Amino acid sequence: MKKLYKALLLKKLLVLKELGVEYIEPIEEFKENKLELPDNIEELRKIVLNCHLCDLSKSRKRVVFGEGNIKSNLMFVGEAPGASEDEIGRPFVGRAGQLLTKMIENVLNIPRSSVYITNVVKCRPPNNRTPTKEEALSCKPYLLKEIEIVKPKLIVALGSTAYYYLTGDKTPISQVRGHIIDMKSYKLIATYHPSYLLRNPSAKKEAYKDLLLIKEFLGL
Ligand code: URA
Repeated sequence: MKKLYKALLLKKLLVLKELGVEYIEPIEEFKENKLELPDNIEELRKIVLNCHLCDLSKSRKRVVFGEGNIKSNLMFVGEAPGASEDEIGRPFVGRAGQLLTKMIENVLNIPRSSVYITNVVKCRPPNNRTPTKEEALSCKPYLLKEIEIVKPKLIVALGSTAYYYLTGDKTPISQVRGHIIDMKSYKLIATYHPSYLLRNPSAKKEAYKDLLLIKEFLGL
């Protein structure tokens, strides 16, 4: 975003604040991928670590940017950081993260560090609630840029929030899982979120089938 435009925008927001306006709808540029973001992952990370585009920036302890191999064919996208991720500043390091790591290492038979792991939103929503549409759309340019940089062959959408914000489709995960979908610049497969699997262990056999499909698709 141009510096002058940024300064004018900030001035306008300050005037609105002085007038007592506490909330405005997300500004057009932030709604879709119209932010000018760097093509370098480290530069992108620096921007994201300083992000204050939505209210999650007020309650977060740490920003949780994606991690892993930026040259990987395989990217996992979760919903949002939880308490452990917010403490540590890394994605999927709590109980759900331990399960995801096992799924990658014990079923796909590849090290966790060989894939790229990120989330739809990079800051923890209070009480682990689902991110609002405004929060997800504010953060979406960052996710789209991560996808553009990593250029994965296959994205695994972990749960309905990731699936929805990647495809715009509201079909329940139970109906879309297990199929490889063509997203033009990459393929996508949706599967159950590891937190859901922790609460519903009987769904693990379906998640296992999804992992076998991923393995076959990527020739692992
Ligand atoms: N759940 C998510 O969706 N992402 C994390 O990083 C951790 C838990």
